[in-house]
Amino acid sequence: MYDLIVVAIIGAVGIYFFFFKSSASSAIQSPSNVVSIATTTTGPRSEKSFYLRMKNENRQVLILYGSQTGTAEELAGRLSKDLVRYGQKALVMDPEEIDPEEFERICLIHNPLLILCVATYGEGDPTDNAKQLYEHFENKEPDFKGLRYAVFGLGNKTYEHYNAVGKFFDQKLEEFGAKRVFELGLGDDDGNMEEDFMRWREAFLPALAQSFGWEYNKNAGLERQYRLKIIEEPNAKVFTGEYGRVGSFERQKPPFHQKNPYLSKISEQKELHASASERSCRHIEFNIEGSRIRYEAGDHLAVFPTNDSELVEKLGKLLNANLGTIFKLINTDEQSSKRYPFPCPCTFKTALTHYVDICAPVKSHVLKALIEYTTDEAQKKRLNLLSTASKEGLVSFFLLFFPI
Ligand SMILES: Cc1cc2nc3c(=O)[nH]c(=O)nc-3n(C[C@H](O)[C@H](O)[C@H](O)COP(=O)(O)O)c2cc1C
Repeated sequence: MYDLIVVAIIGAVGIYFFFFKSSASSAIQSPSNVVSIATTTTGPRSEKSFYLRMKNENRQVLILYGSQTGTAEELAGRLSKDLVRYGQKALVMDPEEIDPEEFERICLIHNPLLILCVATYGEGDPTDNAKQLYEHFENKEPDFKGLRYAVFGLGNKTYEHYNAVGKFFDQKLEEFGAKRVFELGLGDDDGNMEEDFMRWREAFLPALAQSFGWEYNKNAGLERQYRLKIIEEPNAKVFTGEYGRVGSFERQKPPFHQKNPYLSKISEQKELHASASERSCRHIEFNIEGSRIRYEAGDHLAVFPTNDSELVEKLGKLLNANLGTIFKLINTDEQSSKRYPFPCPCTFKTALTHYVDICAPVKSHVLKALIEYTTDEAQKKRLNLLSTASKEGLVSFFLLFFPI
């Protein structure tokens, strides 16, 4: 029933998938179920202060992500994995979980390092989850002497305020007395975010190691981040594509928001161009009757696409997996605030359909991880080349994933 597309009406969020992801725009042609979202959620504040966590868990690196659609969050996670090879266990956090008034306490940590991965939205605005930190930096003058930092901004050059939030944090931290350990990285998703990030990260990590005197250990960080657990209890509550509560698609309960979206029907859709026209523009109406969602002109619409069921089946066959198997992926870092990578338990089919991206080019860190499982020397060499941000590596990567 939910194998079609899911659409969201969000007060503040952009139309990312709608306009930027071609898979989403092609999926819009035959939808019948949509999800509407009235407002974005504000995540619950962690009970324990970030400072106490860093201190008690003996961490000197804090990585914060300002993310709306997950890219900055993913990059933050990748940097944290990179740092394991330098003997560092970073704390990755949503800035919304930090009390900005408490933020200065980071300087009380021994040799603290702050890394920010922050996206820009709207008119050069921060993401919803970075807003309170942004406003704090705008209105207060915290003292960050003794703190070292680096910022990677995510943006898009076609916008007037290109990467304004990354630039803002980079400059403010310097003004507040923190020391920049590496130049501001600017990722442009109109060009190639992955390449920009790979280039920045490959220069950033050695610079960081030099600044802190960390040693690189190529054998560290190879252990799995998640442990697989097959669930065999017959009455297990299983996610079927929901993002928040199990069963929330079947039993719809307000208030509706990003984690508890409202499923609505498309009540009308028609082509506005005449058949002779080569262009296409569709009029689409979503029925939100009875949902108590208020829609105002100017609100945005987002799409939560699902993967093509044929591809999911194909992948299942290739992996020789029973797609109906129910499983959990449990974070091996028990102190991590993220217990599961996506809603668990669920079936392999649900995970491949709703929660993981099976169509995008494989990311460089995944290619790097595969090297360790490859015995063939030629394949090892090839994977190494594909996952390196050298000129030759980047050309091979793009020829493989974006053939001309
Ligand atoms: C509605 C919308 C508005 C955006 N506004 C800007 C902007 O003003 N400046 C900019 O550099 N990038 C802008 N971007 C690009 C995003 O910052 C970029 O896609 C980023 O990778 C998103 O990261 P996230 O997935 O972590 O939210 C915008 C994107 C969307 C969808």
